[in-house]
Amino acid sequence: MLYCKVKLLLAAVSISVLFTLLYYMKINNNEFSVEVTEKKFLETTQTQKYEKLYEVNNFHYILSPNGCGNDSNIEALIIVTSYFGNVETRSAMRRAFSQDDLKQINLKRVFLLGTAPLDKYTTQASIENENLRFGDLVQGSFVEAYKNLTYKHTMGIKWASENCRYANYIIKMDDDTVVNIERIPTLLKSLKLSKKSKYFIAGYVLRNMVPIREPANKWYVTKEEYELSYYPTFVSGWFYITTPKTAEQLYKLSQNTKYFWIDDTFITGILAQQLQIKHFDISKYFAVHSEYMECCLDDIRSKNLNCDVIIGPNGGNNNLFYEFNNAISICNLHLCKNRTKPLEDTCVAKKTFHLGKGQPLVKTYQLH
Ligand SMILES: *[C@@H]1O[C@H](CO)[C@@H](O)[C@H](O)[C@H]1NC(C)=O
Ligand SMILES: *[C@@H]1O[C@H](CO)[C@@H](O)[C@H](O)[C@H]1NC(C)=O
Repeated sequence: MLYCKVKLLLAAVSISVLFTLLYYMKINNNEFSVEVTEKKFLETTQTQKYEKLYEVNNFHYILSPNGCGNDSNIEALIIVTSYFGNVETRSAMRRAFSQDDLKQINLKRVFLLGTAPLDKYTTQASIENENLRFGDLVQGSFVEAYKNLTYKHTMGIKWASENCRYANYIIKMDDDTVVNIERIPTLLKSLKLSKKSKYFIAGYVLRNMVPIREPANKWYVTKEEYELSYYPTFVSGWFYITTPKTAEQLYKLSQNTKYFWIDDTFITGILAQQLQIKHFDISKYFAVHSEYMECCLDDIRSKNLNCDVIIGPNGGNNNLFYEFNNAISICNLHLCKNRTKPLEDTCVAKKTFHLGKGQPLVKTYQLH
């Protein structure tokens, strides 16, 4: 009888132990499965990072202009990285200089786009319409994202070297950069770079830039993405000049190099360093603050004063490219007075900037 009771008790205890065990196992299992999912997620994002490089191999053009025309007549092909939805900026650039206007000075321009299925204001159909009208869009099969900018930039140098290999130069710029287009031919001539070498990059040269290691920053770079403490010398992606041959070499090397999402650092720095491509500094033609561009514009309009700045940021004013080029066309006809005081004496500008997405440089930039 007692034996029977003990047996029952034991059975009860073991059942409760079993349930308790099962309960803990369930919790642990849950925890374990959470961990697994997280780990899986991390692993997938990591592989995706690596796959991005190979994705460029599988990539195709959704829109691509029909070649470059008679490209031996082209002094420079201008490739402009442009966000899918920046219809206004592209329009301002076309109003300032149509493809025919550019042809007069032996230039040609294409815009580089990705896809944006979720854009609220712009549809793929409207982009295709825009291309029917202007025929100047190169669109690649990747989704627009700032971490995908290297795709776009790579696509640009690929398209340029495939379609415009007899052009003398390739100019890469962003759609929020304002450029005095009529000064480009003189700028190219004054460089006389073709005589120096077929392989070079001329732009706003950035040396000893440090990767940003603060996670909250938009330009935060992990050690995994880039492990060294300094970036190699590179040029700002705002505007730079290179050759089709250089672009071709850079593109080829990009296909065998680990993807890095800061596009100007990657292409004009990491890749260029491996190919030992020389950088030429033309920073004296740049204004780094949009305030200087606005100031220059005011001085042309109100005082007929010339503006020596050829390249600068639009500071979010989508129409500035048009306004600036429109105003300065008078000076390009030598109808403006020379400045007596340097621009920085008469303009007020913020002292920090993020040219090239490295650690912000804190100093005043001289305009020459
Ligand atoms: C980058 O493009 C790829 C290919 O289209 C896409 O799968 C990925 O989601 C994009 N990245 C981001 C951050 O949107
Ligand atoms: C303005 O300066 C340029 C040289 O920078 C000079 O050739 C030109 O003659 C000057 N024009 C006037 C009106 O002073």
